[in-house]
Amino acid sequence: MTYNDTPLIKAIHNYKKNNPTSFHVPGHKNGLFFHESIYKQFEGALGFDVTELAGLDDLHAPTGAISEAQKKAANFYKAKETFFLVGGSTVGNLAMIYGAFNRGDTVFVQRNSHKSVFHALEIAGVVPILLTPEFDQYTELPIGISEETLVEALHDYPEAKGLVLTYPNYYGVSIDLKATITYAKRHRLLVLVDEAHAAHYAVGSPFPTSTLNLGADVVVQSAHKMLPALTMSSFLHINDKLSDYIRHSIKEALTMFQSSSPSYLLMASLDGARSYAEALSKEEINQVLAGVQEFKKELTTIKQIKIVNWPDAYLCDPLKVTIRTTTNLTGFQLQDMFMKHNLYPELADDKHVLLVCGLGVSELPFTHLHALRQSLEQYEVIEEVSSNSFQNIKMNSQKLELSSVELRRVPKKRVHFEEAVDAISAEAVIPYPPGIPIVLPGERITKQTVEQIEKLIAAGATFQTEQEVKDVLVVDSEDSYE
Ligand SMILES: Cc1ncc(COP(=O)(O)O)c(C=O)c1O
Repeated sequence: MTYNDTPLIKAIHNYKKNNPTSFHVPGHKNGLFFHESIYKQFEGALGFDVTELAGLDDLHAPTGAISEAQKKAANFYKAKETFFLVGGSTVGNLAMIYGAFNRGDTVFVQRNSHKSVFHALEIAGVVPILLTPEFDQYTELPIGISEETLVEALHDYPEAKGLVLTYPNYYGVSIDLKATITYAKRHRLLVLVDEAHAAHYAVGSPFPTSTLNLGADVVVQSAHKMLPALTMSSFLHINDKLSDYIRHSIKEALTMFQSSSPSYLLMASLDGARSYAEALSKEEINQVLAGVQEFKKELTTIKQIKIVNWPDAYLCDPLKVTIRTTTNLTGFQLQDMFMKHNLYPELADDKHVLLVCGLGVSELPFTHLHALRQSLEQYEVIEEVSSNSFQNIKMNSQKLELSSVELRRVPKKRVHFEEAVDAISAEAVIPYPPGIPIVLPGERITKQTVEQIEKLIAAGATFQTEQEVKDVLVVDSEDSYE
């Protein structure tokens, strides 16, 4: 890996060569002043925390090192253009959706999208039509929108302008979206994809392909999730068929939603992460995957857990390992057991724990795994009871009962979840992680949703709310707006 391959990193190194004296922001003055408790740890990085100085370009009007670094990223990802993001996929989703649609447009959106997608739809003032994804029957996890669902939705809402998908899900799993995207493009829908978990797919087989290669118009990826990049650093890719008008409008939205002082640490880490991924040889990738296999083999020696084997038809990220509890422990309790032994998973749900491996070779934590195995031995392995909770699935597409503008105007009250069945929710209920709303503002609350929330609370899920999750804000009286 050379500096020549990383234009922005090279530009910062060049700037630092002459030991510059700072009479500009940021206030740490190239690392002269900083809190002593973290100074030692941060010292090396502070000199890279620069600003728009001569030779260092400007993210919002790039013509030099940032422009070159973004072009190298576009080239690697086979995009027409790539934008660096310093506010995570969150800001990418906001800009992508705000820039692509006009107020009042009807837009299809995958029901299990990340909250940033729903926030974007609200800010953009579009009319979302929620599409129910397919579910994996065994894990009951959502795995993508089928072509059939889209065909039906387009029949019901022929005025729709776009489709917002998530690929893959948090667990790194998806159905093949080729047919869905091809159908959408044939019917002139704009296809925007939240690929927060797929920035590393570009390293090639055996990783699945990005939807950029399937005809998606705009794709957002969190580099920081699966590539070695600093937290929040992400990409927004534009495909070659997107109109100049929408491309321009997304770029304008990025200047609106991103900081006017974007972090050079994050941007340099994007330059480095792309170069890191691009430089990986087939042999190195095989070594990484051999490490994952060894880790899985070690996990299989623990009887109280079981690795989920996804069906061959799915597209799966080989760096993600979903394990399932085979005891009375919930996924959250199992996650706690891991953490007690200094093993920190990515997330848990009521039945699973997700472990995310890195795109590099590292030593396996044999001692911790051994201690975990011993602690788990006290739990009895039980036979699995098959679930049929997806038999009475809701309709494929669904409109919210009230828009965000309408919701603002109506009186609201807080009620216990049990009393909320059939009411219209006035807020989102979001377990975090993964940050996917179970209830959306303006959505009618069903018995099934209340049961799902109660099950998650009982299993130990955490929610992003100001107060304890036992009640929900709902529309007080529907008569008031009818
Ligand atoms: C599917 C999905 N989209 C978007 C985001 C937001 O990404 P970021 O944390 O990079 O802002 C997340 C975060 O977990 C996510 O899981």
